[in-house]
Amino acid sequence: MTNILEQLEHRREEARQGGGQKRIDAQHAKGKLTARERVELLLDEGSFEEFDMFVAHRCTDFEMENQRPAGDGVVTGWGTINGRIVYVFSQDFTVFGGSLSETHAQKICKIMDMAVQNGAPVIGLNDSGGARIQEGVASLAGYAEVFQRNIMASGVVPQISVIMGPCAGGAVYSPAMTDFIFMVKESSYMFVTGPDVVKTVTNEQVTAEELGGASTHTKKSSVADGAFENDVEALTEVRRLVDYLPLNNREKPPVRPFFDAPDRVEKSLDTLVPQNANSPYDMKELITKVGDEGDFYEIQQDFAKNIITGFIRLEGQTVGVVANQPMVLAGCLDIDSSRKAARFVRFCDAFEIPILTFVDVPGFLPGTSQEYGGVIKHGAKLLFAYGEATVPKVTVITRKAYGGAYDVMASKHLRGDFNYAWPTAEIAVMGAKGAVEILHRSDLGNDAKIADHTKDYETRFANPFVAAEKGFIDEVIQPHSTRKRVARAFASLRNKKLTNPWKKHDNIPL
Ligand code: HXC
Repeated sequence: MTNILEQLEHRREEARQGGGQKRIDAQHAKGKLTARERVELLLDEGSFEEFDMFVAHRCTDFEMENQRPAGDGVVTGWGTINGRIVYVFSQDFTVFGGSLSETHAQKICKIMDMAVQNGAPVIGLNDSGGARIQEGVASLAGYAEVFQRNIMASGVVPQISVIMGPCAGGAVYSPAMTDFIFMVKESSYMFVTGPDVVKTVTNEQVTAEELGGASTHTKKSSVADGAFENDVEALTEVRRLVDYLPLNNREKPPVRPFFDAPDRVEKSLDTLVPQNANSPYDMKELITKVGDEGDFYEIQQDFAKNIITGFIRLEGQTVGVVANQPMVLAGCLDIDSSRKAARFVRFCDAFEIPILTFVDVPGFLPGTSQEYGGVIKHGAKLLFAYGEATVPKVTVITRKAYGGAYDVMASKHLRGDFNYAWPTAEIAVMGAKGAVEILHRSDLGNDAKIADHTKDYETRFANPFVAAEKGFIDEVIQPHSTRKRVARAFASLRNKKLTNPWKKHDNIPL
């Protein structure tokens, strides 16, 4: 009996060794942790329960029958993050380069099925050379099985991908269909075809880092949502993110203890908007001064900085924030910012996270590059996302809300529940200068007349009261009481029930 128990321990120990000490050392030498070390860091201490530790591949080509390491290159199971259950897979680069075989895929699919059935997030730690070359189409089939599950799980349980090594070829499409992608700087990359193929086909010379590193994907392509210095930081940030999210689409996000009075008055906000309407100010100051304890979890902070997206808490409850940033492109909406915010709004709506919108937007960015790039369709994504969202929506216009962008940014007309404006708000079809140049074209050149017209226009429209008279703005509020007003608004909406008409699914402009 003792012997059998010992044998089990021995087999376990062997499985934990993955591809052996030499390859573990090589992994460490690259500044990377092993699959198991990552799982340990991600989950609460001692909470990991492993599945399929002894699964081995079934391949008999290329003498693979002689190498059948237990676990087959991926560690799978479940555990907890701050006491809440998550399912996890972690690819083991020390075993066949973390490459995906039929059985490796089956292990991933098993925990994805359990996550959906049991209503808990899936976190994938990716570090893989892609399809297991020796297995051919069986491995491609394995990928497709994972893809199909990503699709079915989308909007049901949160899915988070962390790219912690290579991720190439079709393998990138599983992370691409998850809700959030984090990358580790300098040690991870994602691309459909690597530098060698790029060189052959397009004659471009590019390094793996330039083509698909963390910087590329968080600043240029927006494929990834966050870039972190090393494995430890990336995993710590996943833990922080999970804390904001519900476990599934039937549950509310967790309510955390808070030590910040919901009615805290923030006098400094009264002078946040500068006297000069064209001077910028930092919208992040407003976000951090409104949220509990100044905590803000930003998503995609390095991309389309003219819009800010992320999570705060109000009275301990998660709220998604979308805010124009006047410091970048004057806070204009454009292709990138519309796409970024639309995806964020849809995530929030899918997972019952209320949305707070801060508006200071002079309109859509004009220009041929925007029009040729399809700003009409991309802008419509954000419009569509806000309009279809049924979660509580609270909007605060701090300054400009011009033109179509006024409508788009969670206006009353898109079923905004509470639409507030600061006294500094200007809600109009366009700014005074542009309006006067169109309405009084014949007076152009006569500076005195133009100045009069401009003043007249500003008096009429550069304020929130025209909209307030029509009931499009529910209340003009003091900037210093924004936290209190917004917190009370969301508190009143906790039992909001709103459903859209039955449909198979909508046809959001993609
Ligand atoms: C089997 C693989 C493998 C793979 C790596 N290995 N990739 N084994 N299938 N796809 C093995 C290596 O043989 C080696 O084994 C070990 O993993 C480590 O690999 P190295 O090359 O020594 O490591 P490194 O120098 O760090 O390079 C890592 C790498 C490179 C860049 C990932 O291995 C590589 O280019 N691999 C092939 C990538 C690829 O083309 N994959 C298919 C993509 S197409 P030993 O025994 O020496 O330790 C694809 C289609 C998916 O994925 C389709 C989905 C629809």
